[in-house]
Amino acid sequence: MISAPALIEALAGEGWYVQRDAWTAQDCAALLAELREHDAAGRLQPAGTGRGAGRAVRADLRGDRILWLDTHDGGPATRGFLAGMQALGREINAALHLGIAEYEAHFAVYPPGGRYVRHLDRHRDSDARLVSTVLYLNPEWDESAGGTLHLWTTQAHSVEVVPRAGTLVTFLSASIAHEVQAATRERFSIAGWFRRRAALPF
Ligand code: OGA
Ligand code: MN
Repeated sequence: MISAPALIEALAGEGWYVQRDAWTAQDCAALLAELREHDAAGRLQPAGTGRGAGRAVRADLRGDRILWLDTHDGGPATRGFLAGMQALGREINAALHLGIAEYEAHFAVYPPGGRYVRHLDRHRDSDARLVSTVLYLNPEWDESAGGTLHLWTTQAHSVEVVPRAGTLVTFLSASIAHEVQAATRERFSIAGWFRRRAALPF
């Protein structure tokens, strides 16, 4: 179970939170099974960086392949995950009044050697992303395999998160820079963002 009060307090304070048992092993296994099925069917695509004219696929900067989650086409585990995160978004809003209006998320598979260089999740031309989330899906993970997430909690200090199933990382999209280290094995996760309603397009 997600510990919403602790998560909310941490977001309001330091701006980041790591909970190791936010999702059960059983739910993570079901999510991983759905992810593997999509992957076997060839539905994941190389991830890009940037938006609009700035968009590019650069495996040296970002090595994962992704599939956006969809309430309509998703399996029961995917739908349950989205419902749980939407409930969390409502709790965050009620406490912090961030103006969260939606949640978007994608499955991600980092192949061995794949990494994501240090970055912020908020796009340069859009302030829609408020809070980032990452749920890990590998049922076991030996630290010697690499693949940790480095979160720069201040300019000079980072914490390392081991990508083990059930661990949920939450942080402010605008301010917490982070980096995915390359691993020696496949690394499975769901990255997501609580967003405010985008301003009217021109
Ligand atoms: C991302 C990201 C972190 C992770 O997809 O933007 O930073 O640990 N993912 O997978
Ligand atoms: Mn990121």
